[in-house]
Amino acid sequence: FYVDKGNHRHFMQKEIYEQPEVLAHTLGSFVDMTTGRTRLPQGQVLDFSGVRRIAISACGTGYYAALVGRYYFERYARIACDLDVASEFRYRESPLADVDLALFVSQSGETADTLASLRYAKEQGLKTAAVVNVQESTIAREADVVFPTLAGPEIGVASTKAFTCQLIALAALAIRAGVDRGVIDGEGELELTKALAEAPRLVNAALHAEGAIELLARDMATHRHALFLGRGFSYPLAMEGALKLKEISYIHAEGYAAGELKHGPIALIDETMPVVVIAPHDRVFEKTVSNMQEVAARGGKIVLFTDESGAAAGAVKTTHSIVLPDMPEILTPIVYAVPLQLLAYHTAVQMGTDVDQPRNLAKSVTVE
Ligand code: G6P
Repeated sequence: FYVDKGNHRHFMQKEIYEQPEVLAHTLGSFVDMTTGRTRLPQGQVLDFSGVRRIAISACGTGYYAALVGRYYFERYARIACDLDVASEFRYRESPLADVDLALFVSQSGETADTLASLRYAKEQGLKTAAVVNVQESTIAREADVVFPTLAGPEIGVASTKAFTCQLIALAALAIRAGVDRGVIDGEGELELTKALAEAPRLVNAALHAEGAIELLARDMATHRHALFLGRGFSYPLAMEGALKLKEISYIHAEGYAAGELKHGPIALIDETMPVVVIAPHDRVFEKTVSNMQEVAARGGKIVLFTDESGAAAGAVKTTHSIVLPDMPEILTPIVYAVPLQLLAYHTAVQMGTDVDQPRNLAKSVTVE
């Protein structure tokens, strides 16, 4: 196939901008948009009613999508999830005794460790399912059940649109699983799918923050280290935000659960340390605010990503804040991914790195 950059300077930027469209497209195969009912993609059969425990594995960005997936499955379907990076799962010799389903998340469908983990799970007699973007891939061929993300070809090495499509697919699957298991009733299903249908509009709103994020990126590019913090649904986002930044700008970044700040990373905080905090006004917002106060008290530079309600709470003095619209909780990982992608992108552009082909990285790692 041939894909060009259109009016964008890099594939990564183009792919960031494609998200409203590919999210809608992906959601459409998991939700009947006229009735609001969840469904499985055409030709796929999986009844979650007997599923009580899922083992999930993936690599890189797919792993962080899987981590959000775990929060979704646990919250909306009351299914326990074991999560591993695939390179550990394949050698961990986990007994897998009470696991009912092994789930894999992969953009390329060719990552060696993820494929080996899939084969291991099959050898153990487990039913396997894969959330995968490349439909002709080995993982798509070998998994018992395939949940396609319809992100289209992703060229930039740093994953963007594949990640958010993985998130919306996992969210829809968790709702489906909740319905199958009787955890969510018909009304609850409609409320949640209605929320997911808002993703394209809210991602569009997040894209409008690009100008403000470009300014913030100029500041970020002057630093050598950064810390990313989040709680609950935003904890995996903190790690994904840090991964995006280090992948393409080569700034050393670490993502932490905000509550872990006091157990180590707080020692790094001084006036030169940017601390990116992902804090929508959700059920753990107040807890994250107290972590920000701990950072502020030590002179750290707070870069806050929040929503209108969070900004109105105005609890902490920040160096920069990016304010998104209020939104249903299930959507926050999907929408907050976008400003984090833009932050990494513009920081890398400032630093003059090769955004689409960062050093030492490959789009798909087919060797161990
Ligand atoms: C590589 C890519 C990452 C990707 C990871 C897993 O490291 O650079 O962007 O997240 O592989 O790839 P997969 O295709 O399995 O999602």
